[in-house]
Amino acid sequence: MSSGAKQHFLKGNNNWLWWPLFPLYPYGSRNTIFSELVPDLVWSFEQLQGLYYVAVPIRMTVVKVPNGLMIINPLPPTKDLVDQLRILEKKHGPVRTIVLPTASGLEHKISMPAMARSFQKAILWVCPGQWSFPLTLPLSWLGFPSSRTRILFADGLPHLTACKWISLGPIDIGLGRFQEVACFHKPSCALLVTDALVGISSNPPEIFDLDPTPLLFHARDEGTQPLKDSPELRNKGWKRLVLFASFLKPSQLQIPSINTVLKNSFKPGLRNFKSHFGIYPFQWQKGWDLSVDQIMGSTKPLLQVAPVIERLVFPRAKNVFLRWLDEIKELEGMKLLVPAHFSAPIIFTKRECVSLRQKINFSRWGPYQDEPSFLGSLDKSLLKLGIVPNDPLNKFKD
Ligand SMILES: [Fe+2]
Repeated sequence: MSSGAKQHFLKGNNNWLWWPLFPLYPYGSRNTIFSELVPDLVWSFEQLQGLYYVAVPIRMTVVKVPNGLMIINPLPPTKDLVDQLRILEKKHGPVRTIVLPTASGLEHKISMPAMARSFQKAILWVCPGQWSFPLTLPLSWLGFPSSRTRILFADGLPHLTACKWISLGPIDIGLGRFQEVACFHKPSCALLVTDALVGISSNPPEIFDLDPTPLLFHARDEGTQPLKDSPELRNKGWKRLVLFASFLKPSQLQIPSINTVLKNSFKPGLRNFKSHFGIYPFQWQKGWDLSVDQIMGSTKPLLQVAPVIERLVFPRAKNVFLRWLDEIKELEGMKLLVPAHFSAPIIFTKRECVSLRQKINFSRWGPYQDEPSFLGSLDKSLLKLGIVPNDPLNKFKD
């Protein structure tokens, strides 16, 4: 969050009744923090989303377009979130467009039908190559209204006077396809991305102020410890959450045996859902925080390719990523980056883009490296099993 940005928690009804469709923490009750990122042009709605208290911020971005508003990466439309959108509509015009710019990010896809029902006149635009798991179903079966759903590029592109759309991918990732379409919003000079780029800061985001439980849960060293709160413990928990989110299984994390986990569980004081009954199947090794500096900025958010994306989507397609950055660096007047996770906005001019490109070009970029050893070995195993392809671009060649 940039200093000085107006932000506040939305108050009122935060129920999300459709949570069993995709049962992620915090399940049926979603708090939202609302911020104006660029006055009268760009707004952020942030919630938490995750598994087993490994919760990270997820963002819906709203931008001003001619005669109204455009929503990118919709979130669960709780009543308080929709009420805030109605306030914006009164000043800036109706929600004209809702965009799902990713083919693979299920966490962004799940709210699209409900948001479409809340804004019945909006046109829906989706990234090409949508797939669902375990079966690929037609969009109309997934709740997308076919009469007002369009495919980006195949059916045109929305708001071309205000936006430039730049595709990253497609890449065949075996189980489906990875593609995300970045939007350069010319009036604000902000580049809106989904999962490919993130900026991570060393302080926990404000969204945890309302309920810091996920931070405090992971700040412990074993399940027998009660959940205590202090700024230091919140920071410790945040570092561990970021390591989880970045590497799925950080190298300094051991998973204890089931006997050890159960021995420490269900102790007095821990027999409640908030403490997950003392079940804490993690054991952090000494020096667990040494790799944190590589992914977290100390004074400002550290800009990076999301490690999970780098290791699992692009290990054999570095050039696709570089070509995407080549296109982005030519965007005239680019100033800010607004990703769908972690900090926003982040300063992002041609200079930052070129230096990120150089860093990626000259760094080792491959499946089997040091800290992300779990991701590397996961990629290696998937490759061996033939689940991910050796040549991820082959399928989409003419
Ligand atoms: Fe995502």
